[in-house]
Amino acid sequence: MNSNPQPPRTAELLKRRTKAIPRGVATAHPLFIARAEGARLWDVDGREFIDFAGGIGTMNLGHRYPPVVDAVRKQLDQFTHTAFQVAMYEGYVAVAERLNTLVPGAFEKQTILFSTGSEANENAVKIARAATNRSAIVSFSNGFHGRTLLALSLTGKVAPYKQNFGPYAPEIYQAPYPNERRGYDTGSALHALNELFETRVGPKQIAAFIIEPVLGEGGFVPAPFEYLRELRRIADQHGNLIIVDEIQTGFGRTGSLFAIEQAGISPDLLTFGKSVAGGLPLAGVTGRASVMDSVEPGALGGTYGGNPLACAAALATLDAFESGALLRNARALGEKLRIHLEAIATRHPEDVEGVWGLGPMLAIGFRNTKAHNGKSVAQHVAAAALDFGLVALTAGPGAHAIRILVPLLATDEEMDRGLAALERACERVLTGERLEQRV
Ligand SMILES: Cc1ncc(COP(=O)(O)O)c(C=O)c1O
Repeated sequence: MNSNPQPPRTAELLKRRTKAIPRGVATAHPLFIARAEGARLWDVDGREFIDFAGGIGTMNLGHRYPPVVDAVRKQLDQFTHTAFQVAMYEGYVAVAERLNTLVPGAFEKQTILFSTGSEANENAVKIARAATNRSAIVSFSNGFHGRTLLALSLTGKVAPYKQNFGPYAPEIYQAPYPNERRGYDTGSALHALNELFETRVGPKQIAAFIIEPVLGEGGFVPAPFEYLRELRRIADQHGNLIIVDEIQTGFGRTGSLFAIEQAGISPDLLTFGKSVAGGLPLAGVTGRASVMDSVEPGALGGTYGGNPLACAAALATLDAFESGALLRNARALGEKLRIHLEAIATRHPEDVEGVWGLGPMLAIGFRNTKAHNGKSVAQHVAAAALDFGLVALTAGPGAHAIRILVPLLATDEEMDRGLAALERACERVLTGERLEQRV
């Protein structure tokens, strides 16, 4: 957190928060929000910020996207909850139908809805096990699949997520993610996967692989398409399923509705969450109908899964992607973003390790030579950015990168302000206060 003196209302709320809420739920910034619109946030002390965090990739359409607000309002006047397992409603069915069409794969699909990404991943594993009658699951290093205990068992990052919470679910094996910056290109990552098959778990015991097409929390590293295609080939050879976790990459974040489309392969199961419903809690699993339908009635569900308000928000969100204009906009935004981030990298060649990602899902990574006070350079940059009016998040091992999760409909002015704040934050942290001017 930023150590600058806080304005009065923020200071008071911080004090109450520290007493009332455990520190286990850490907060990236000392910020209490009063209002949000598009790519802007206003805090309880009246300060305005550009939002490059989007509620951790949940606000791809921006805050209070009008059709989403209207749809939720309309649903609010009808009913808010019945539990789909008790009394059904059309919204759930309509969301499932839409996703069955939109998720890649030229086969019959079905969709089940939950409230959180962790739940979606847990259920994808349950479905894969039931469908294959096998127990082993292979996940990947630096992957993040959630914080509930099975999702955490899949997650490939110890601090801060996994320490002190074991033992973890058995029959989960981890293979290296194809990430050149961690020493694995496609060839060596595939070699390591074969070694896993030889030394730890036979491929015929494996129910499914679960992989993020672009690491989210793991630092916005895309898996090479050739690796994903080879994984598809291996899975087909051995009867394994592929679960792609598109919880952070989905709904336009990488320039396509789902990142896996760009690799040209179809997963058997796809998990989604976050930006599907404009900030309302909705997540789910879409997949091959024959796989999805292999679970006995009553074995899947949850009280809030597919909540009517969240379904209404999801339908309005999916409408927004219909024409293709939003995705075109997302790709253009990605190009602009990349140019700016690369300009920052060029100005600070000693400190910036690089710019990477897929489409507008981009990160700028820092070498940690100027880390201090137990914080990475990126954490210092994020704290400084807040002073200049930008909310940004870190990602990656050792929080070495700033990841950009700006709403895809951010205006040019919002982008320019956000990027100027990021540049100034980099100047401050990497060269001392060279640029004094505040946005
Ligand atoms: C790729 C990925 N999977 C799963 C999750 C977990 O989702 P949730 O926090 O909604 O449980 C996240 C959350 O950040 C994520 O980025």
